[in-house]
Amino acid sequence: MSIVLGIESSCDETAAALVTDGRVILAQRIASQDEEHRPFGGVVPEIAARAHAERLAPLIEATLADAGMTLDQVDAIAATAGPGLIGGVMVGLVTAKALAMATDKPLIAVNHLEGHALSPRLADASLAYPYLLLLVSGGHCQILLVEDVGQFRRLGTTIDDALGEAFDKSAKVLGLGYPGGPALERLALQGDAKKVPLPRPLKGSAEPHFSFAGLKSAVLRAKQSGEYTDADIAASFQQAAIDCLIDRTRRALAKCGPVNALVVAGGVAANKAIRGALEALAASHSLPFIAPPLSLCTDNAAMIAWAGVERFERGQSDPLDVAARPRWPL
Ligand code: KG4
Ligand code: ZN
Repeated sequence: MSIVLGIESSCDETAAALVTDGRVILAQRIASQDEEHRPFGGVVPEIAARAHAERLAPLIEATLADAGMTLDQVDAIAATAGPGLIGGVMVGLVTAKALAMATDKPLIAVNHLEGHALSPRLADASLAYPYLLLLVSGGHCQILLVEDVGQFRRLGTTIDDALGEAFDKSAKVLGLGYPGGPALERLALQGDAKKVPLPRPLKGSAEPHFSFAGLKSAVLRAKQSGEYTDADIAASFQQAAIDCLIDRTRRALAKCGPVNALVVAGGVAANKAIRGALEALAASHSLPFIAPPLSLCTDNAAMIAWAGVERFERGQSDPLDVAARPRWPL
């Protein structure tokens, strides 16, 4: 059995996890910084980096203690090396380098997006390559064909905002606080999705890309007009977002060739209406629909450790001078 320690610090979660090649999460801890960033309505990079620097080492110690283990029993150390806020990425990667050096274990520099992309295989042993992945969170909005470890084809991306960002910005317009995605979904339950005419940007276009900036601006205009209730605006926004998502994903399915499943990951995958619509789309293509448990969908270290496991099993590791990368497309 091999065991990998995973470290995640690329945004506003400080996280560590111990995962085995048998898909067992021995322990995992996540310290969220929502409280620190809430007054600013978004993540402040400098504050995030400082918080990671304070919390990461004790968090790793606690994670090892939870599993009743010492570092000697770990086979490899994996950390997010990008993409993300560079201060935070450096805290995590340099910590991993120090641990790898001190214990003489291999270092595995993980692409955060690869962590998200492979996490469904941690949750579901039956999920085989290739699969179509919709990665939708506050920072990411991509449609990826996942062919193997390190082998991805990006079919679609956003030309402006990520989907979670559009939820958060629309929620802010409606005075719902930060991060507003979950609150907007709750409010939408009380509204009529047909009340507010909103655009479906890029719907029907040939390449499966996304655009949400225009939708967000239309939400602002609807609110300022005073003609609609907040619940109707929320419901109409969510329906417009779903229509875009389904149209774009259907387009990607038409382009990607045979796949084993339609998979969704990222924080927005928590949205029940979105899950339901994707499940129906998968069914109409006779594909299994896979959504990992929410704890694996949002930023976490188990997904980084798992990407480490998949790489470790293939004999892959990285030198101690591997770079931290603010941008690192798959
Ligand atoms: O993956 P995540 O925790 O962090 C990154 O952005 O990487 O995703 C957080 C995003 C936020 O934009 C949040 O508003 C959105 O996911 N989100 C939701 C829901 N729950 C979280 N958006 C819509 N409906 C939800 N229920
Ligand atoms: Zn993420």
